Amino acid sequence: MLLRPATLADLRAINAIYNAEVTGGTATWHTQAVSAEEREAWLRAHEPDRYPVLVAQAEDGVAGWGSLSPFNSMGGWAKTVECSVYVAPAHRGAGLGRRLLDGLCRQGSFLGYGAALALVSADNAGSVAMCVAEGFFEAGRLLQVGRKFGRSLDCVVLERFLRERAGAVVRDEGGRTLFIRRERDGEVWWILPGGTVEPGETSEEAARREILEETGLDIRLGPLGYRVFRHGRVQRYFAATVVRAETGGGTGPEYSPEHIATHGTYAPEWLTTREVGARRCLPLPLADAVVRGAPWPAVARTLYDDPAPVASPPPA
Ligand SMILES: CC(C)(COP(=O)(O)OP(=O)(O)OC[C@H]1O[C@@H](n2cnc3c(N)ncnc32)[C@H](O)[C@@H]1OP(=O)(O)O)[C@@H](O)C(=O)NCCC(=O)NCCS
Repeated sequence: MLLRPATLADLRAINAIYNAEVTGGTATWHTQAVSAEEREAWLRAHEPDRYPVLVAQAEDGVAGWGSLSPFNSMGGWAKTVECSVYVAPAHRGAGLGRRLLDGLCRQGSFLGYGAALALVSADNAGSVAMCVAEGFFEAGRLLQVGRKFGRSLDCVVLERFLRERAGAVVRDEGGRTLFIRRERDGEVWWILPGGTVEPGETSEEAARREILEETGLDIRLGPLGYRVFRHGRVQRYFAATVVRAETGGGTGPEYSPEHIATHGTYAPEWLTTREVGARRCLPLPLADAVVRGAPWPAVARTLYDDPAPVASPPPA
């Protein structure tokens, strides 16, 4: 199903999906239906390059929508957005809520936001489950702050960091996989190459740039195969093959003396499957897939690299 930016023509459908929740449940704490005029003013205030609104276009109309909104108008909150996702009842349970939420987070990363929040009524198990499945962690709980249908309501504050990491599983003709050997303070480990997605950059662009900087290899990216959630942040991994090797290896900031002093050393290494299994290779669940010889997934798989995927804030 196509996800696309919302237009004024979608207002009626957006409001119909939303207002059913106003009158029928606790997904929203609005107690009065939102009028057409209010919804239009809302959409006009959501400029696409600051606060995007996405709709999921089904054959029979709009199946769901989601938005990024300012969380608080004080300047200090400028890098934090609030996510909302609503799926029409007939389209629930098919993964649409998750796609909308991830699409919004991806746009939030592109726009340079640092954190996404979802404030969810504690009795809304489906919404909490959806956020957790999409890498949000429970950052806190506000007790007895809401009231609807004569009942007192708690609010779960869920959070996902929007600085994403993008990388690649680069294979050579002999089936070896490219890793970066890291060493710091006497500890040694290997990571799949990649790095932070910068604002204004897609994850594909970031993966190519980072690998060129880290290894001097110009790569051709294949499809996204894995999303790994770790410490409230997503890492996206693409299949890749080498197009051209620059001479001289990596020249990125990782190789500056200042960076080495604080972060340790970086050295590209091609590892056989057996070597991946015998070393501390990260991210663990993806290294495990390499060791098992798992075929590249046709549809991107989600892996969780936290002991428990929810309910505890990530380490600072
Ligand atoms: C919450 C909502 C957006 C989920 O949309 P959806 O398209 O049905 O969700 P998905 O199919 O993507 O499923 C999301 C995950 O949450 C879980 N989930 C969804 N509904 C659930 C429910 N009622 N109870 C328990 N888990 C539920 C699913 O198991 C799924 O996880 P999985 O992929 O690991 O199995 C939808 O139910 C909705 O619009 N609810 C009303 C509005 C709302 O609560 N919005 C959230 C406020 S921000």
